[in-house]
Amino acid sequence: MNDYTLEENARGYMGERWDFPKTDLIKNLKRLGISEGDFVLDVGCGGGWSTECVLTFNPARVVGVDYSEPMIKIARECVEDERAEFIQGDISSLVLDQEFDQAVSEDVFHHLDDVAGALNSVYNLLKEGGGFFFNWSGYFRGDELISNYFQRIVSYEARKRGMSLSFPDQSGGKFNRKELKELIGDTCFDIKHIKMKPRKVKGEDLRDHHHDFWEEAYPHLMDSFQNERIVREIGLAVRKKTSKFLKKGRTLGFKSNYWLVKA
Ligand SMILES: C[S@@+](CC[C@H](N)C(=O)[O-])C[C@H]1O[C@@H](n2cnc3c(N)ncnc32)[C@H](O)[C@@H]1O
Repeated sequence: MNDYTLEENARGYMGERWDFPKTDLIKNLKRLGISEGDFVLDVGCGGGWSTECVLTFNPARVVGVDYSEPMIKIARECVEDERAEFIQGDISSLVLDQEFDQAVSEDVFHHLDDVAGALNSVYNLLKEGGGFFFNWSGYFRGDELISNYFQRIVSYEARKRGMSLSFPDQSGGKFNRKELKELIGDTCFDIKHIKMKPRKVKGEDLRDHHHDFWEEAYPHLMDSFQNERIVREIGLAVRKKTSKFLKKGRTLGFKSNYWLVKA
């Protein structure tokens, strides 16, 4: 993940974040069931985009927590609402002297080093019966990544030419889906609902992925083969094999949403 403790990265992310449609998160928060007057915790609030989504439900208070100082600064500058408060802190070991009716964490959990620690902190900060919505928008280990798919084709073409290639492992993610579910089970949260949303790419997007992958793979292949002609040949073979997917699209993995409740 980008290091959001750097002002430049935090401002860069937030520059684009404000234009991002809020409809999906608001829909997910509806399912969480925030009521008017609730105290809500926004875990990894960043510059306050997710906090603004929470505020549409008329809570009494939203406390946004983020370990990045520049993000907290941006949130204080941009979210002009006296019901919102922003605190710098690490969610994996967060202790506050208040309790919350609901908690939300948008686009954060797959970035965390200590997911179990974060789940336990949120659990301890919730009132009994309190709900927690979070999503895992990065890849799970084992989900098919487009770059893995390209890698397989490139490796196959290389093998045909008597060369064995290895790419860095990009299968991504600390957990597969089952392991994350087990981890949640280890906390005292009950799982109310899980929803997987496939991320498909096709057409231009897939072409872009292909292009990016090829740009990265090219120097690697050149180093391995020391022969421009063979590398071009492999490039053509890859293009031919992948072109049939341009129309059909390919699943890149899933964005997974979790609704938990403190039993
Ligand atoms: C991709 S941003 C999402 C921000 C915001 N929730 C939104 O939807 O715009 C992820 C945020 O998580 C924060 N973060 C990552 N690890 C954290 C931790 N251990 N404790 C608190 N915040 C953390 C980062 O600083 C960053 O602001």
